[in-house]
Amino acid sequence: MTTPYKILLLPGDGIGPEIMGQAVKVLHWLRDKRGLALELSEDLVGGASLARYDTPIRDEVIAQARQSDAVLFGSVGDPAWKNEPFDKRPEVAILRLRKELGLYANLRPAHLFEALLSASALKPDVVRGLDLMIVRETVGGIYFGEPRGIETLPDGSRRGINTEVYTTAEIERVARVAFDLARVRDGRVCSVEKGNVMESGLLWREVVTDLQKRDYPDVELTHMLADNCAMQLVRDPCQFDVLVTGNLFGDLLSDLASMLTGSLGMLPSATLGAVGSNGKRAALYEPIHGSAPDIAGKGIANPLAQILSLAMMLRYSLNRAEEAALIEKAVAQVLARGLRTADIAAKGETSIGTEQMGEAVLKEMDVLS
Ligand code: IPM
Ligand code: MG
Repeated sequence: MTTPYKILLLPGDGIGPEIMGQAVKVLHWLRDKRGLALELSEDLVGGASLARYDTPIRDEVIAQARQSDAVLFGSVGDPAWKNEPFDKRPEVAILRLRKELGLYANLRPAHLFEALLSASALKPDVVRGLDLMIVRETVGGIYFGEPRGIETLPDGSRRGINTEVYTTAEIERVARVAFDLARVRDGRVCSVEKGNVMESGLLWREVVTDLQKRDYPDVELTHMLADNCAMQLVRDPCQFDVLVTGNLFGDLLSDLASMLTGSLGMLPSATLGAVGSNGKRAALYEPIHGSAPDIAGKGIANPLAQILSLAMMLRYSLNRAEEAALIEKAVAQVLARGLRTADIAAKGETSIGTEQMGEAVLKEMDVLS
């Protein structure tokens, strides 16, 4: 008997549980039809955990995430907690998971499905064939740098402080992920920072340049300032293969890139850590969109980013590239048939709900296999 893969499901808040429900159906399909041995467990995070346990994530959940082969995460964020201090915010759940599991490389693909060409915010000619990968550093930079805080000055006014910090080692390990990916893609990395105004950016550029010279001479490396990169992503997004950047710029640029594909609701992500002593690489998979409280519970959210995140899990953590491709193909087919959730429907087009979209993907998987 093969040891089952331990998967921890953390649906979270808002639309999280609805879209996770569809991904779970896909997991069950893989278990029943492909003999994938799975041990699924589930827990609360974010606002859901705050409401029940008064904390965005319990230590037990972190410990369980550590013992899992992979974590499938929904989304966190709930306006009910927006006036609470930082440690009582739902978002802490994902930040702690990234930090404590050492998940330093966030892979955010922006891939345009041909059927969604007209849903893109850009003209078809500019965006056709788009397939880029943003590698965002996720455990360093200004999100975690010290000093940080809000302090009161002698005159009674206040000052908010955050610090952008990157060490050589932090830059190098995330850049390695980008170079390795480029090798199995189009062989090009563009490194993004603000070295014109920030020392951390200067060091970033230097370290990435040295690493390329030393270990990746076969990969083409270019550099771009983050503001220019935002502009270039809109002007000519197909020029990019792999982008590598820090935490904050990666957060912004990946939201921007998502709109090029038609909807934030389409984009999955993988966040990878180091390979542990057990030979396993810590990994978490999540859609890049948020919890969308405005449409939560209505059954209209797009489950495709969650389902595509599961496909990334199969590829990067479970060594099942074939099944990952099957899911991606099923999604492409469903879109090609004209099925749309509200977020990707053109004006006047009928849209289907979360559940129907999930079922449509499963049906397509049946047909394709
Ligand atoms: C993301 C989100 C998170 C981030 C939030 C929820 C903390 O925007 O994953 O992009 O800023 O990293
Ligand atoms: Mg974000």
